[in-house]
Amino acid sequence: MEFSLTQQAVELFEGDCAVVFAFEGESQENSDLSQLLELNQFEAKNGKTIVLSRVQGFHASRVIVVGLGGSPLTGKGFVKAINALSLELRSFKVKSASLPSIDVDGQDEAWTQQTIARILHNASYQVNKYGIEKENNNTLELVSVHSASKDSTALNQGLAIANGMALTRELGDMPPNICTPSYLAETAESLAKIHNLECEVLEESDMASLGMHSLLSVSQGSSEPGKLISLSYNNAGDAKPIVLVGKGVTFDTGGISLKPGGGMDEMKYDMCGAASVLGVMRAVVEMNLAVNLTVVVPTVENMPAHNASKPGDVVKSMSGQTIEILNTDAEGRLILCDALTYCEKFNPEVVIDIATLTGAVIVALGKHHSGVMANDQGLVDDLNAAGNSALDTVWQLPLDDEYDELLKSNFADMANIGGKEAGSVTAACFLSRFTKEYRWAHLDIAGTAWVSGSKKGATGRPVPLLAQYIINQT
Ligand code: BES
Ligand code: MN
Ligand code: ZN
Repeated sequence: MEFSLTQQAVELFEGDCAVVFAFEGESQENSDLSQLLELNQFEAKNGKTIVLSRVQGFHASRVIVVGLGGSPLTGKGFVKAINALSLELRSFKVKSASLPSIDVDGQDEAWTQQTIARILHNASYQVNKYGIEKENNNTLELVSVHSASKDSTALNQGLAIANGMALTRELGDMPPNICTPSYLAETAESLAKIHNLECEVLEESDMASLGMHSLLSVSQGSSEPGKLISLSYNNAGDAKPIVLVGKGVTFDTGGISLKPGGGMDEMKYDMCGAASVLGVMRAVVEMNLAVNLTVVVPTVENMPAHNASKPGDVVKSMSGQTIEILNTDAEGRLILCDALTYCEKFNPEVVIDIATLTGAVIVALGKHHSGVMANDQGLVDDLNAAGNSALDTVWQLPLDDEYDELLKSNFADMANIGGKEAGSVTAACFLSRFTKEYRWAHLDIAGTAWVSGSKKGATGRPVPLLAQYIINQT
């Protein structure tokens, strides 16, 4: 799909489809169009569309009118309208479309353009159905957007972010017998090759030498070897890097603390943190941002087995702190803690970990906001601003010492669970014990990384949020 800016009015567009935005209660300048809309009783409610053919004054064979509702148009309202447009473009097999410029309340033109490119391109993502020949129902090839400016940076950024989301969704949706820790390592290596990045993959023996016995305790029950992947993009001289850490549990059975059977297939998405940091890397590289970015992926499969770890086991983390494993299903934090200690070697500007860490965050926030917890309020504020801009939002949960006390263990420095209450917070408290050396934030994406039900699949979140955060740092 190609996006470009044009100084030509949509009426003059010679391609398949001209797009017109309509506010409720406002009439169109073109009299033929305004008569047709009245005749069809089109009310321009937000997200409603109407497709018209051979409208006088338009060179394109079709005009799609997209309702915006009443003004002012909010960012969310605009996204809803573009999603509706995207469905119509697809159902009419449109190859080329031209969009007018449009004012969105509180947003600049760059925001609007980035959003258009991101949404339309992300909508072209197709799930790989194994065994079924991939039928391409993406006809849209060319989208031109009207603007007085000729700077297409924002459109290109939208496209790059959607490409990052596509990688994230593809990896998330992949069956867990294919997307193993080794597969994630190969994916990182191939990204490195294509984009000339530095990639290092630590094997279990390397991790044992580094003392990562917490991470290794999770992978020990699986025949798939665990890995620790790091991938670096350096485009800002000797600036300290932004480091993103993504939880890569390629399947979470719960281990000996086995999960119930219903819906267990969805635990293939337990590597969506890993998939999202690889997606962000792709987006940042394609945007050619002047930053230093390192992504770190601890990746394992959590299986029950005769040699799996069991409740009561005590392990020593790379940091030297010991952990009593009271529940083998709280495995995410066990692999992240060693990865977070490992991050110190990068001398990071900030570290952000992204993890499908707790079911409790879904109870607290549902599927709308990702949970954010941090040891630095400025970092939370920056993530919040980036999320609001990208409409990929976060909601802060507390991290007071009172919660941390719930991790007390009689037999080690800490337990890996804190009990029934505030599960997302105690999980973050656990991680915070390993992040004392740098500014750190934790995103719990268990609710936002995928959807269940008939549209089951990975969402590509929080790639837009993180990509915007990194753009904002340049
Ligand atoms: N991967 C899960 C968290 C999860 C649950 C993500 C549901 C998405 C949907 C994580 O490893 C886990 O099992 N967490 C436990 C923690 C508990 C044992 C303290 C949970 O949330 O139940
Ligand atoms: Mn688990
Ligand atoms: Zn898990």
